[in-house]
This record gives sequence, C-alpha cells and structure tokens, in this order.
Amino acid sequence: METLTLNDGNSIPVIGFGVFMIPNNGPAYQAVRTALDVGYRHIDTAAAYLNEEDVGKAVRDSGVPRDQIFITSKLWISDLSYEGAKRGIARSLRKLGTDYMDLYLIHQPYGDIPGAWSAMEEAKSKGILRSIGVSNMSPAIYSRFVPLLSVKPAVNQVEFNPTFLQKPLRQMMEKDGVVTEAWYPLGHGDAALLSSPVVTRLAQKYGKDAGQIIIRFEIQEGVIPLPKSSTPARIQSNLDVFDFKLSEDEMTTLRSLDTGKGKHDPDTPGLGDTLRNAFIIED
Ligand SMILES: NC(=O)c1ccc[n+]([C@@H]2O[C@H](COP(=O)([O-])OP(=O)(O)OC[C@H]3O[C@@H](n4cnc5c(N)ncnc54)[C@H](OP(=O)(O)O)[C@@H]3O)[C@@H](O)[C@H]2O)c1
Repeated sequence: METLTLNDGNSIPVIGFGVFMIPNNGPAYQAVRTALDVGYRHIDTAAAYLNEEDVGKAVRDSGVPRDQIFITSKLWISDLSYEGAKRGIARSLRKLGTDYMDLYLIHQPYGDIPGAWSAMEEAKSKGILRSIGVSNMSPAIYSRFVPLLSVKPAVNQVEFNPTFLQKPLRQMMEKDGVVTEAWYPLGHGDAALLSSPVVTRLAQKYGKDAGQIIIRFEIQEGVIPLPKSSTPARIQSNLDVFDFKLSEDEMTTLRSLDTGKGKHDPDTPGLGDTLRNAFIIED
C-alpha cells in the first residue's frame, strides 16, 4: 500500500476505508473484514459512528498484524475538553480493543479545542496516539485555532471530492504541512457526480468505473480518500485504482467540476449544538 508522510514523520496509507453509517454488531464487522481481505490497511471510524467494537474485532480476527493496519478514530463534541478527551481516548481504546490509535481527530470543532488538544498531545507523547489531527475545520475555524497549537495537526479531515476542492483551505494548510483527508470522496454516492460526462468518458478510456476515476483523481491530488461501502464488490473496486494514472490534462478537466461549495458548512451558526445532540456516546 502506498503511503504519505505526515508532518510528524509518521506514514499513512493513501486511501482508507470509511465506516460511517455502517451499524455495529455485524455489518461493520463484515465490511471491515472484507476491506482487510481485499487489501485496505487503513480504517476510518469515530466514537460517534458507534461501531468501534466491530472495527476492533474485525482487525483482531483478520489475521493481519495490528502494526500493519492504520486505525483512525475521533473525539466527539460531548468530550471536547481536557478531561473529556482523556475519557474519550480511553473509551475508544477500550471499544477498539487496542492499546494505541494511529490517528485520533477532533471530530467537530465546537468546544474547548485547546483543552482537548493538550490531552491529545499528552497521549501522543506517551505513544497512545501516534498522530493527532482535526476534522471539519473551515478556513475561518482553522485560522482561529491552529495558530494557537504548538503541535500542528497532522491532518484535517473535510468534505472533498471533484465538486468541492477546498482550494482556500488547502492553501492555508499547505504551509503547516497538514494533509487533507476526504470525507464524501464519492459525494456520499452522488449520482450527478458519478454519472457526469467528464467522469464517464475517463472511465471508458481506462476500463474503470466512475468511483475508481474519482478516487484515483483524489489520490493524485495528494488527498486521502476514505470511501465507504457496504457492498463487497464496491469495497474491492474502490481500492483497485493503482494500475492506471490520469494525465495532467485529465486532472485539470476533473478539477473543472469544482463548484467551490460543499453540502456541509462548518461555519453554520448553532451547528455544534445540533451535532452534539445527534450522536450520544455511551460507555
Ligand atoms: N469527519 C467527518 O465529519 C466525516 C463526515 C462524513 C464522512 N466521514 C468519513 O468519510 C467516509 C466516507 O463518507 P461517506 O460514507 O459519507 O461517503 P462516500 O464514501 O462518498 O459515499 C458512500 C456512498 O456511496 C456508495 N458507493 C460506494 N462506492 C461506490 C461506487 N464505487 N459507486 C457508486 N456508489 C458507491 C455507498 O453505497 P454502498 O454502501 O451501498 O455501496 C454509499 O452510499 C465515512 O465512512 C467516514 O469514515 C467523515
């Protein structure tokens, strides 16, 4: 599996398997087992996905050594403080059944970010968290908080796909060496994106499907896609993107799909409260 080097020196596989909205107690276990069987070595979960137990069990049963699998989890808003982060880290480790996480993110930037970050820095210095990062930081939120942090985030996981290239944000992150991870890499299964003429023409040319063209574009763009699927054939096909390369002209054409806007706006007033109540994390 190809990797990128993060700003803390750690390596991260260039594609991950996302498990948002795959239920615990079976479906997430099956999906992660399939993903590991077909070759993914990077799993993206979160406390708020409520499926860390299944992810951990699938990793243990896979036969793949733990140190060859990159596991990300995320701290939910209800734990976004110094003490809360210590509690959230311990809970995720217990549910995953592992003694370290490769990457741990502040899932949503609403709460005591500096407090939570201190606890994450401490856990990083103990080796419990190998890399630490943030998610859903818009340019406004990023420029407000990141300059305060002595350890810079390794990644910012944000909405990204050919229709939303996050240009201003990525320019800002570049100077800190912060890698972009793409959620909604397939637009959450966006039919308009998947069937757009630019994408289908390239799919025909390379004998690939639309998902593979989009994922390949993201990898060549230096962004880490986290495609989710519960469908075994798609879990496999979404990883089968390493035997072709888009030309620079084709990359430019795909970039022309950018609308400069996504479905999610982290700057929406009151969003923190709405999200906090949407996912309740239990011990
Ligand atoms: N940090 C955050 O706040 C945040 C927010 C959202 C997501 N995420 C992360 O990003 C991951 C991906 O996001 P997402 O799951 O919402 O969106 P996505 O990966 O863009 O799209 C997933 C949807 O596309 C379908 N799909 C998968 N492969 C396909 C293909 N090759 N062709 C056509 N359709 C395909 C899936 O259907 P089937 O399952 O039926 O195959 C599913 O409905 C999540 O799982 C999570 O890890 C993070």
